Amino acid sequence: MDNTLVSGTSKAFQNEFGSLPEHIFLSPGRINIIGEHIDYNNGYVLPAAIDKYICFAVSELKEGENSVFYAVDMEDRYNVAHAQELQPLKDEHTWANYLLGVLNQLNIRGMKTRPVQIAFSSSIPIGAGISSSAALECGFAFALNEIFQLGLSKKDLALIGQKSEHTFAGVNCGIMDQFASVFGQKEKVIKLDCDTLDYEYFDAHLGENTLVLLDSCVKHTLLTSGYNQIRRQVEEGLEIIKQNNPNVENWRDVTHDMVENLRERLGESVYEKSIFVVDEISRVGEAADALQKGNFGKLGALLSATHHGLSRQYGVSCEELDFLVEEVLKMDGVLGARMMGGGFGGCSLNLIRKDKAEEVISNISNLYKKQFDINLKVYPVNISEGTSKYTQHAEV
Ligand code: GLA
Repeated sequence: MDNTLVSGTSKAFQNEFGSLPEHIFLSPGRINIIGEHIDYNNGYVLPAAIDKYICFAVSELKEGENSVFYAVDMEDRYNVAHAQELQPLKDEHTWANYLLGVLNQLNIRGMKTRPVQIAFSSSIPIGAGISSSAALECGFAFALNEIFQLGLSKKDLALIGQKSEHTFAGVNCGIMDQFASVFGQKEKVIKLDCDTLDYEYFDAHLGENTLVLLDSCVKHTLLTSGYNQIRRQVEEGLEIIKQNNPNVENWRDVTHDMVENLRERLGESVYEKSIFVVDEISRVGEAADALQKGNFGKLGALLSATHHGLSRQYGVSCEELDFLVEEVLKMDGVLGARMMGGGFGGCSLNLIRKDKAEEVISNISNLYKKQFDINLKVYPVNISEGTSKYTQHAEV
C-alpha cells in the first residue's frame, strides 16, 4: 500500500483542478530476475511488478473540452483535444508522449474516449531501469479502459503500451515491461514466453535470501539510440543465421555451433551478441527451475553469468554497473548480481542472504562513493500487484 503517494497525488489534483479526483489508479514498475534483452529475441523472461508506482488521479471532463495532464513531480501541464491527429512532442513536455502515444493507439483502434483531467506522480525512480515509462503508458491505458469501458483485455493494454513506446517515445522495446506492469501479482514472478505471450506465475520464495536493487544513479541517456541499434544488429544477425540454416525460425532454434560456423560472416560484435542471446535463452529455463527447486546458489550464479554476458558480449553495461556487480560478488553473503533492464545505467539486481544484506549494502555504498563520488541508492524489492484501480480498502 502506498498511501503517501496516493494522498499526495490526490492533493495535487485538488490544488490544480479544484475538486477531488473521481478515480485513482496505481501502475507499478518492474524487476526482471533474468532473461535480459531477449524479450525482443523470442526468449522467455522472468519479471515481476514491484511496490513502486505511478499514481493517477483522474476525473472526467465534458465532451468538447481538452484533456489536461498534470505531471505533479515536474510541475508541468499539457492540454490536448482527443479528436485531433496526434504527433509526438519533440522539444517540450516530452513526458506527455507516453500518454499521447496511448491516446493515439486508442484512436487507431477506433476506441472512443472522452476528455479527462489527470494528475500523476511517481515513486518509481526515472531512468533507473525499473520501467517508469511502461507504468505510465499502462496506467493511463488501464484508466481509460476502466472509465470508458473500452473492453480491452490486459494483453491489449500491454500491447498498446508497447506500441506507444515504439511510436511516441522512440524506443523499439520488447513486451516485458508493459506485460509485467499489467500482469504483476503479489509475491509471484511471471514466466513469460515473449513469442506467444503465454505465461505462468511462480512463487517468488527466496528462502533465506532477499533481492536488493542498487541504483548506480547513472541515467541511461544512451538507452534509446543504443537499444534500437543493438536490436537492429541482432535482428540482422538472425537473418544471416536463417539464410544458412533453413530450419531456424527464431532465436530459440539457434545453437552455439550455428553461430560459431558463421562467426566471420556475422562479424565479431554480432557474433558476441548472438552467443549471448543463445546462452541467455537457456539460462532463463535453468533459473526458473532453480527458483522452483529452491536452489538459490544456482540462481545466483546464473544472474552473475547474465551480467558477464550483458557487459562483455551484449555491450549494454557501463563502468559504474560493472563496478557494483564485481565488488558485491566479492562480499560474503552475495549469491549473485547483475545489471538489470535496458542498461547503460540504472540498477543492479542483487541476490543476498538476508542476514548479510545490511553489511553488504553499507560496504558497497562506501566503495561506490569512494570510487565515483556518487551516493548509491538502495531499494529493497517487494513483489506486488499489477496495474489496478485503487480503492481505500484495496490491498496493493
Ligand atoms: C528495456 C525494454 C524491455 C527489455 C529490457 C531488456 O527495459 O523496455 O523490453 O528489452 O530493456 O531486457
